[in-house]
Amino acid sequence: MTDFNEPINRIGTNSIKWDTILKTYNEEELLPLWIADMDFKAPHGVLKAYQDVINHGVIGYADTPESLYESIIDWEQRHHQLTVEKSEILFFSGVLAGITTALQALTEPNDAILIHDPVYPPFANIITTNRRKLIRSRLIEEDGHFIMDLADIEEKFKHEKIKLMILCNPHNPGGRVWTKNELNQLGELCKKYGVLVLSDEIHQDLVFAPHEMTSFFAAGDSFSDFSVQFTSMTKTFNLAGIKNSIVFVKNERLKKQLTRKQEENFQQEINTFGLAGMEAAYRTGDTWLKELLDYLQGNVAYTLDFFQNHLPKAAIMKPEGTYLLWVDFSDYGFSDEELENLLVHKGKVVLNTGVSYGPSGKQHMRLNVACPRKTLEEGLQRIVTALN
Ligand SMILES: Cc1ncc(COP(=O)(O)O)c(C=O)c1O
Repeated sequence: MTDFNEPINRIGTNSIKWDTILKTYNEEELLPLWIADMDFKAPHGVLKAYQDVINHGVIGYADTPESLYESIIDWEQRHHQLTVEKSEILFFSGVLAGITTALQALTEPNDAILIHDPVYPPFANIITTNRRKLIRSRLIEEDGHFIMDLADIEEKFKHEKIKLMILCNPHNPGGRVWTKNELNQLGELCKKYGVLVLSDEIHQDLVFAPHEMTSFFAAGDSFSDFSVQFTSMTKTFNLAGIKNSIVFVKNERLKKQLTRKQEENFQQEINTFGLAGMEAAYRTGDTWLKELLDYLQGNVAYTLDFFQNHLPKAAIMKPEGTYLLWVDFSDYGFSDEELENLLVHKGKVVLNTGVSYGPSGKQHMRLNVACPRKTLEEGLQRIVTALN
């Protein structure tokens, strides 16, 4: 049984989460509850696969063996009832690398691209740095969780002539696991208005029962004709540093455009460690993942309870998946800058600032609870110190 309570010192390991905050804030002894990686060791089976590569000692160019494809196909079938074939799988050095390449392959400069507000910040960066037009559709908060504003989306499809939408499924930062029905309604609109979809499903395995992951492909008839899916084992098994990801593309025309751009950018060769870790994770990671989800659910429950008792003015969203919690601090009346300053310099705790996720993120913060319970307890206590 994995001991997720084991404290692991990450300081001095070139960790973005732990080592960059001193430079950013010029403040000692900060506790990081930001950026989406976990303070847990990767599964034993993955570490052993790395050890085997190291013991062999020659780290040459890596092929993608048949057994790797089989491990992915098997995982998707067993965990997500998604049928994919070898010919529908591409590899990239990260989900964002894949999304960027797809955006370049499937759209032109000045094309209008839709994303939700709030949503994972790099989507907006990718769109603007590639000189596409950024359009946002605000999510509606209803009964303590986000729902899509389909009327607004349709309006924008029609009047902004949206070419493509980048969807976060499950949703970061709100933790929504979009239902089949929601995805179906969205997809039918995309079909009607000829909008392509890039579905970022990197959080696909981090879903809490009874919620169920639905991949965009599976949400409606022929949705794979106008969409591409992106996933990875890096979020699931805490391997973000190996920069490795998978693309599922079933439509031949989309695949051709995507592989052509991948070759133009010479992105088709994949990191040896990434491939070894991927196959090992998918072959040996089931039990670890089950234990992880139990532990994360415990941390989520602890956090919700803590907020209710100690920070009742903050409105915190209960996630259906992911280890990320979206918190509305607006009732405290602080500006975004004041809120960040209080948390960092008075509480000595670092969260992600909400405005980076879109204009609706004003006075919000995103909280990462994927750490040992003791670290979480300390971090939450620091939020109280900052705000009270
Ligand atoms: C929704 C989403 N997509 C992509 C990424 C980053 O993926 P990668 O490191 O594979 O580019 C993250 C990381 O937090 C994420 O939350």
